[in-house]
Amino acid sequence: MEKILITGALGQLGTELVPALQKKYGAENIIVTDIHRPESNDFGGIFEVLDVLDKSALLSLHKKYKITQIYHLAAVLSAKAESTPALAWHINMDGLMNVLEAAHEQGIKKIYWPSSIGVFGPDTPKDNTPQNTFKNPNTIYGVTKVAGEKLCAYYNEKFGLDIRSLRYPGLIGYKAMPGGGTTDYAVEIYHEALKSGSYTCPLSENAMLPMMYMPDAVRATLELMEVDRERLTVNSSYNVAGVSFTPDMVAESIRKIIPGFTITYKPDFRDTIAASWPNSIDDSVARRDWNWKVAYHLDDITKDMISHLREIQRAEKVM
Ligand code: SER
Repeated sequence: MEKILITGALGQLGTELVPALQKKYGAENIIVTDIHRPESNDFGGIFEVLDVLDKSALLSLHKKYKITQIYHLAAVLSAKAESTPALAWHINMDGLMNVLEAAHEQGIKKIYWPSSIGVFGPDTPKDNTPQNTFKNPNTIYGVTKVAGEKLCAYYNEKFGLDIRSLRYPGLIGYKAMPGGGTTDYAVEIYHEALKSGSYTCPLSENAMLPMMYMPDAVRATLELMEVDRERLTVNSSYNVAGVSFTPDMVAESIRKIIPGFTITYKPDFRDTIAASWPNSIDDSVARRDWNWKVAYHLDDITKDMISHLREIQRAEKVM
């Protein structure tokens, strides 16, 4: 029986990945961890406080639960990392090193670790960015993701750890707010459309970025983790494409449901980060190796986001 530990589980991705893993493996086999206890344990199941910088705490949890897999999600995202580069390096790299070392020492063979489109930089081809191309990021977040990919490949080759990874595009979901990312606007815009009917965007109107709806991201993650290792030809991290759009295109898509929605642009440093990232991603290697295929396109995302956020608003009013 698998015992799966998830770090940083209260973040945007963990909030949606945890229920999917609990459904698949049983809540009693999923050890949900984060640096703080949640206000309410909506997950049900097991929760433990874990600071990924504390390797001995990680080893204690292994002793307690006999962990067989780790999903290591704890990290500082791109925009926040720019204001605290040393801390971002510490958390993103030392946290990953602790997980890899603990896994190696304790015989935990299977690890999931998220990489990002942040590995790419200004000299990367912008359209249909290939799986293998220049990875010279000019953000500290990107630096930690490139180094993390190399570290994972090293632990795979040297010690046989089965580490799997996706280069996520910006992730969009209604269950949790992202925190500190460049692509966060694509979540905030839906909340503001419903709250105030207008949004001030920190990216410029033509900032085209690859994005993915959370159900696709969760499915991609689980599909990658389930496929036979022999089928995987990439031991760093897979490009996965969802959909590519600009803030202007999201606004247009929202207007199909909320006709009076308005957007204004006040680009800040996040726009510079966005400009260094791809417009769109070539994920042909993921499609070939494990049959990856995106399901949600922009108007599907908009429809689903708005309908779920409206439900949440209605429920909040009743309470
Ligand atoms: N969504 C992330 C960010 O904006 C990129 O992986 O930082």
